[in-house]
Amino acid sequence: MSWKSFPKVELHLHLEGAADPAFVQGLAAEKSIDIRDIFDENGAYKYEGFNEFLKVYEAATLALNRPEDFKRLTQSVLENLAEHNVVYAEAFVSPDFCGGRDLGAWREYLEAMQEAHVDGVTLKGIVTCIRHFGPDKARETAQCAAETAGDWVVGFGMGGAEDIGTAGDFSYAFDVAREAGLRLTSHAGEWGGAQSVWDTINDLKVERIGHGVHAINDPKLVDYLAETGIVLEVNPGSNVALGVYPSLAEHPIAKLREAGVKVTVSTDDPPFFHTTMTREFEQLEQIFGWGVDDFKQLNQTALEAAFCDSATKKLIAKRLDMS
Ligand code: ADE
Ligand code: ZN
Repeated sequence: MSWKSFPKVELHLHLEGAADPAFVQGLAAEKSIDIRDIFDENGAYKYEGFNEFLKVYEAATLALNRPEDFKRLTQSVLENLAEHNVVYAEAFVSPDFCGGRDLGAWREYLEAMQEAHVDGVTLKGIVTCIRHFGPDKARETAQCAAETAGDWVVGFGMGGAEDIGTAGDFSYAFDVAREAGLRLTSHAGEWGGAQSVWDTINDLKVERIGHGVHAINDPKLVDYLAETGIVLEVNPGSNVALGVYPSLAEHPIAKLREAGVKVTVSTDDPPFFHTTMTREFEQLEQIFGWGVDDFKQLNQTALEAAFCDSATKKLIAKRLDMS
């Protein structure tokens, strides 16, 4: 069946990573920024492996250098979400790419993003530091997050190269964000092993983990996640496209779920991985036989783990027909 019209919740979506390559190429051409080498002959993003993916990702952001670019980007992201009936989403966005972590500039970018609107889609923001940019920049990012925490900025997170530094290097940044009332998530266990997930839980005190799939290699960690209800933001299509797992059949999402771990499903950086939320659902149906009840449960888990306020959750629950 097509899952396009089935209502969905998406918790792990990078705003910059959701930029359509044609949009980025158009902006770059207008501004005479030469990033032609990040696209293939069909206009898709071109990279091999995770490190090159990160370079291409960062190069694409060079074209997105004005608040109005982020307004257009957010508008197109909202339209894509609506097309796949994603009724609630949380987007990671990095002040590094929005005025270089300058608070005044960040406020302007943030205001522009919030001007985008599509009826029926609620979008919230998770300010995100980038691990390979180091702890000092992460601290500045956390300060931007803390100063703008509120109705739209609901969380703080970390993406980037998981093999750089330790989770503990970023404790201070996460403390700043927590003290400002922000909810916390961090990428871990995507490229790193189970220990990386343990370190992230212990040192950053997050309530959600981005990816977390390598937890499957440590039964104690699987039990711990199941007991504590720490939620995994799993991105199966991303993991297969980047080579974390050779195929969806070999991906541990079903095993984690069967072990009682709270899993959710997202797209991560959809145009980079040629995916959509509809495609993710279709693949999960095809490979693991998941159906309506499974997807309703995923939605419920995602909504419970969402970082928005409870009034918003109630409204979304009605849209998901879960109330
Ligand atoms: N930033 C965007 N996508 C990412 C991923 N899959 N892992 C780490 N950082 C990212
Ligand atoms: Zn991610």
